Amino acid sequence: MNIAIDGPAGAGKSTVAQQVAGKLGYLYIDTGSMYRALAWAVHHYEIPVDNEEEVSRLLEKNTIRLERDQGEQRVFWNDTDVTRLIRTPEVSEYASIVASYPAVREQMLVLQRKMAQRGNVVMDGRDIGTHVLPDAEVKIFLTASIQERARRRWSELRAKGNDPQLSDMEKEIAERDHRDMNREVAPLRQAEDAVLVDTTGISIEQVVDRILQICYRTGESQL
Ligand code: DC
Repeated sequence: MNIAIDGPAGAGKSTVAQQVAGKLGYLYIDTGSMYRALAWAVHHYEIPVDNEEEVSRLLEKNTIRLERDQGEQRVFWNDTDVTRLIRTPEVSEYASIVASYPAVREQMLVLQRKMAQRGNVVMDGRDIGTHVLPDAEVKIFLTASIQERARRRWSELRAKGNDPQLSDMEKEIAERDHRDMNREVAPLRQAEDAVLVDTTGISIEQVVDRILQICYRTGESQL
């Protein structure tokens, strides 16, 4: 069985997807980290981010690899471990830009489908249920209000010792939502056969339980 989890930034996708994968003994694949790795390289090598052709060529000529290390996903750009480097505001901004390029998305689609070929994966992103794995047995669209998502990002950043403004977070999230939902290729939207799970005001455990129940039900109906 393959499980696709899509939704906007800050809905809790990666935490939830990781826990669901852990409980089921499935492989977790965070596709956002692949766009982030490319974004990191664009920034690091000072490639003009608005030049789709150059950005796409950079991806073509290099490799992005995801590895599991003690239950955690590590991200490599060629042989450089960029796991931590891709979690900065600049990389988030760049990732959203490079993810809007058709030539980039086409390459990512091929890479991501290859990763899911073995089956039993939980893949999270924006277009997994709609484009990457349209045949996934379970599709979840995870969301939460902008205020709640901004609050979550805000506490994450504070826990890391930063002092962000909540209003800036809300603005940033609304902007990213807008860009992700309105791009021409594979915009963020709920697949017709996806189950909507709103995480506003519910705990991670409750969300994970709800998704596991959906998975068990789907598994039983396929026996
Ligand atoms: O989930 P995230 O914040 O790590 O994703 C980084 C960016 O990549 C975000 O702007 C959305 C984009 N993305 C995408 O377009 N398609 C995916 N499957 C995953 C992420």
